[in-house]
Amino acid sequence: MPKGRKGKIDSSCVKIGIFDSGVGGFTVVRQLLSILPDVPVVYFGDTARTPYGPKSPGILRTYAMENARFLIEHGANIIVVACHSAASCATEELRENLTIPVFEVVTPSVEKACRVSRRGRIGIIGTRATVSSNVYPRLIPERRPGAKVFQNPCPLLVPIVEEGWLRSRETRMIVKKYLRPLKDRQIDTLVLGCTHYPLLKKVIKEKAGKRITIVDPSREVAEKVTAFLLRRYKTAPSGKKVQKNRFFLSDLTPHTVEIVRSFLGKKVELEKACV
Ligand code: DGL
Repeated sequence: MPKGRKGKIDSSCVKIGIFDSGVGGFTVVRQLLSILPDVPVVYFGDTARTPYGPKSPGILRTYAMENARFLIEHGANIIVVACHSAASCATEELRENLTIPVFEVVTPSVEKACRVSRRGRIGIIGTRATVSSNVYPRLIPERRPGAKVFQNPCPLLVPIVEEGWLRSRETRMIVKKYLRPLKDRQIDTLVLGCTHYPLLKKVIKEKAGKRITIVDPSREVAEKVTAFLLRRYKTAPSGKKVQKNRFFLSDLTPHTVEIVRSFLGKKVELEKACV
């Protein structure tokens, strides 16, 4: 993010609503807060119904609409779908039914992957819901004709991250096994298509090797939202955050508090959502 962009948005006009299936969306919150520390966010993590990865598109669309409505009721005037599983299945539905802008993690990562891929051989890792939606194989060739997309679902990585096994020997072995089929197809770019994978970036990079460029959607969506806010609200900068951030979860346990701390890199006040 070029210097000088920060602090130019009138924060009093904006409240970014972010939702995820649980705590993974804090990777997106972290990126947003690092670029836009003054813009208030309201977060909803559906910890009561997580994981979304093994669920069907129909139920994910229902959950996504409910989550977005919760955020709107709490003042959001922009929605960011941080969850790849929900974004893959429910973006169209959200855009058709909501009158406020909807951002999501898939499109910005498609754009970035198409831009950086040297030979148009792009690998996708994500949950089963994301991979089965085929959203990446559909969108990537539209943007970069001739590009080839290779996918591998990696369902074990979500619980591994939530256990905090970010660098263990077992994690390295599992990541290696999941990346093998993609490396066999000679991908040159790999999209981390799940909220949790940025926490495994070091191991993924190590196992992918130097020749594969890693695309982190949490970063891409944060930059996309920033560019939009700068276009829409840049004329009247106040430089002040006028509302505090709020972080809601549909279920709250002591372990959740710990996981959030590892995702966000700091402790925040979590609220139990009344849903
Ligand atoms: N947030 C989900 C995603 O990005 C991962 C966790 C889950 O399966 O709910 O797809």
